Amino acid sequence: MAEKKFPKDFVWGSATASYQIEGSPLADGTGPSIWHRFSHTPGTTHEGETGDVACDHYNRYKEDIKLMKSLGLKGYRFSISWSRIFPNGKGKINEKGVDFYNRVIDELLKENITPFVTIYHWDLPAALQDIGGWANRDIANWFGDYADYLFQRFGDRVKHWITLNEPWVMAFIGHMYGEHAPGMRDIYAAFTVAHNELRAHSKAVEAFRSQGINGKIGITLSNGSHDPASDSPQDVMAAKMAHEFSNYPLFLNPIFKGKYPEHIENFAKEFLPKGYEKDMDDIKKAIDFVGINYYSGDLVKADPSSPMGIKVIGRGLPKTEMGWEIYPEGFYKILKGVQDEYNPKEVYVTENGAAFDDKVENDAVHDQKRIDYLREHISQAHRAIEDGVKLKGYFVWSLMDNFEWAQGYSKRFGITYVDYKTQKRILKDSAKWYANVISKNAVE
Ligand code: FCB
Repeated sequence: MAEKKFPKDFVWGSATASYQIEGSPLADGTGPSIWHRFSHTPGTTHEGETGDVACDHYNRYKEDIKLMKSLGLKGYRFSISWSRIFPNGKGKINEKGVDFYNRVIDELLKENITPFVTIYHWDLPAALQDIGGWANRDIANWFGDYADYLFQRFGDRVKHWITLNEPWVMAFIGHMYGEHAPGMRDIYAAFTVAHNELRAHSKAVEAFRSQGINGKIGITLSNGSHDPASDSPQDVMAAKMAHEFSNYPLFLNPIFKGKYPEHIENFAKEFLPKGYEKDMDDIKKAIDFVGINYYSGDLVKADPSSPMGIKVIGRGLPKTEMGWEIYPEGFYKILKGVQDEYNPKEVYVTENGAAFDDKVENDAVHDQKRIDYLREHISQAHRAIEDGVKLKGYFVWSLMDNFEWAQGYSKRFGITYVDYKTQKRILKDSAKWYANVISKNAVE
């Protein structure tokens, strides 16, 4: 098999998120987050599991950074917990929270690993939820002030910033399907949240530019490849709707073009907040890169009985433990699509990876399926670069097994195995394989 070389300076990294790995959710003056509350609410997560301990990264970050170093990672994407910095979401600052992230950042830099910081990965301070959370219009300013403060404290060392992680998931899984915090089921709230996320993102970009930070700022979006189940115009339209609604266009169209995708706007007019059109000029603002998350792909059929006229079906391909079909070609389509549709200056894959039913045997985990998954997806990323996508880096989800939201600890996405009883980390075969990709800057 031929070796596929990546461009010089390509950033090979791994990704995590605060609530999923840190544990100690109330330590040292941290305020509770909506995920703390949600996971402590009976019936919300797998076997009632919570992020109370998770990977204990709050105490073990040094060991974890050593592990990253041992793999040769060039970049590490992690998120900051808003309520560690502002326990009430705004106002009073918690210096001990700032200290924690200072220690993490300094340790990474000491090891020559570039920090990529996600400002918000779903753990809203509960105090802000009490006054309406993301559905409150004022959140654009709360978020803007929070981001502004992070730039002040960390902007001297952190040069890559991601405003929001997967705003679609937060808006719709959190506010329409009710499966994530804050557990609401209200389509009006969900579209309002999506709109406010865009406004909040834009405030953060504004603060970033006005501080004149010498760095780059972007946003990370969730994606699945949605192809029409047949050539019929109805199926083609349904697939287009699914793409515009749940992939990058819902957010990138406003950011790059100052308007919602046409079909979604027609559908959502009733649900979006009154007067939303007046915000669109403000939302349109240059960003430095787009972050793409990709896991799976499916087919879409027209279905007049569903509100959006969409029915998602599978191709019958093998699935990961999440029940997601493995469709590497879709990764290429998403990357190529984002470059063709919006021509961003840079693209990063901020998440890609798979959950499998890993077993420890003699202190080893032979996760050949994950290696195959990663190899095929990284090959598609290479193909995208050859076809003109300005892809600058790839972050595997995840550095280590962690709290998979409503699925608790039942799904393992790590390239490192975590024994939650002892907190021992075991490099899976996929981690060793990935280290080899990094050292060669190539995939076979
Ligand atoms: C993404 C999330 C990330 C992780 C992966 C599996 O939607 O951003 O936190 O849970 O899925």
